Amino acid sequence: MQIDNPAFDYDRLGHSYAGYRQTDPHIAAFVNRALGGAQTILNVGAGAGSYEPSDRYIVAVEPSSVMRAQRIAKGKVPAINAKAELLPFDDNTFDAAMAMLTVHHWPNLEKGLREVRRVTRGQIVIMTYDPAALDVFWNVRYFPELIDVERARYPAIDRIQQALGGSGEVVPVSIPLQCVDGFQEAFYGRPEAFLHREVRKAQSAWGFLAPGLEDELVERLSEALLSGAWDREFGHYRKAPSK
Ligand SMILES: C[S@@+](CC[C@H](N)C(=O)[O-])C[C@H]1O[C@@H](n2cnc3c(N)ncnc32)[C@H](O)[C@@H]1O
Repeated sequence: MQIDNPAFDYDRLGHSYAGYRQTDPHIAAFVNRALGGAQTILNVGAGAGSYEPSDRYIVAVEPSSVMRAQRIAKGKVPAINAKAELLPFDDNTFDAAMAMLTVHHWPNLEKGLREVRRVTRGQIVIMTYDPAALDVFWNVRYFPELIDVERARYPAIDRIQQALGGSGEVVPVSIPLQCVDGFQEAFYGRPEAFLHREVRKAQSAWGFLAPGLEDELVERLSEALLSGAWDREFGHYRKAPSK
């Protein structure tokens, strides 16, 4: 599958994002450690403000007005309307930068990362999904077409590293069972979550499926949950404290 323009329309579909995609404290601890002692931090693709440390000076960049609006309700600093590929800042403005679960949305990854590098003196913290690890989650069995979407748009980890100069450290982040950031993998032990439309609406991949396919995939999972087939094969995940 080839997705020529990976843009997901957050202005049309992102209204309930903040309710289902919150800062998970376990994941936030990784992010905070990675940010080290930075005092001024740029958050690119900042969305509703998840993972922004509250004890540092944050400047947020977010191109969707619907996402920017959700920051206000959460008491986050307002975001500047801009994109990663053209950041309105001077060279070396920030101690550090962060980009959480956003790089797969950027139409020009290398250009965006070059810009983030240009305006950042120190650490750049990117949280992303590894396309090489997509087969380890059970949803590849129930939602194969959805995983094809993800495979087509997640940049390889070494491509990100190279764009940032090649010397970055890669740290796998474990996901807790009750993860409150509702990306797909957050529900590895709570499959019923996928039966809720609002949960899926906060996961952009569903927006790329052919008409009618979303209902078909959800029905497939629903039947497997009713028949017990899912639990027979994957039920152990319901009690796995992290993945
Ligand atoms: C999955 S959301 C993540 C939001 C937030 N970082 C979080 O962790 O909740 C992806 C965000 O990337 C933003 N985005 C899309 N294209 C972008 C671009 N070219 N530059 C910067 N942000 C972009 C979207 O508007 C959206 O808010």
